[in-house]
Amino acid sequence: MTINNDPKLIPTICAALEEHGFVVIDHAFSASMNASLVEFLADLNLDHFKLAGMGRAQAFHANAEIRSDHIMWLQDNDAKTKGYFEWAECLRVALNEIFYLGLNSYECMFAHYPVSAFYQKHVDAFKQNENKQKRKLSTIYYLNDNWQAGDGGELLLYHLGDAHAFKRILPEMGRLVIFLSEEFPHEVLPAKKSRYSLTGWFKTQS
Ligand code: OGA
Ligand code: NI
Repeated sequence: MTINNDPKLIPTICAALEEHGFVVIDHAFSASMNASLVEFLADLNLDHFKLAGMGRAQAFHANAEIRSDHIMWLQDNDAKTKGYFEWAECLRVALNEIFYLGLNSYECMFAHYPVSAFYQKHVDAFKQNENKQKRKLSTIYYLNDNWQAGDGGELLLYHLGDAHAFKRILPEMGRLVIFLSEEFPHEVLPAKKSRYSLTGWFKTQS
């Protein structure tokens, strides 16, 4: 199973990030990769998902007023997600070569927003965590078949300091969104259907 047969995907992402700081790509990965990720999700018992919170491990605290999604952190040891992690590693190496970002790790989770769940406007990174790691680039890959405009669940992107979103993105199957974690506040609107995504962050460590 290959994640993508298009050798232009990573160069396209890099060029768009250089110009705009964010990118939205439809049909980013192969149908077999999508099927594999959806299968992986379907096999998971919803018990694997935990109410999301702010911070990890000791610093963790759930805060249902800010967000109400459920998440499950992924390890890169499952055949069904292997292709995705391989792609992330290729992108990490390319980004470092071009932008000297010094990205040295990628963390990634499945997120499930039950009906009406949301995530208020936030920035994914402001400061280093307890391990001196800092999120630099956010990636979101949507896994929702037949998502309609009226279903809600849009991702809204803002420029820092702006009250109005400059972009509204429906969480459609195969849509990949990548943006600089420190530069784009964003929020997830409540949806009328369950909403699934694979969300990750490339990080630096000092
Ligand atoms: C996040 C987030 C956006 C989305 O998990 O930090 O902002 O569209 N997710 O799922
Ligand atoms: Ni976020």
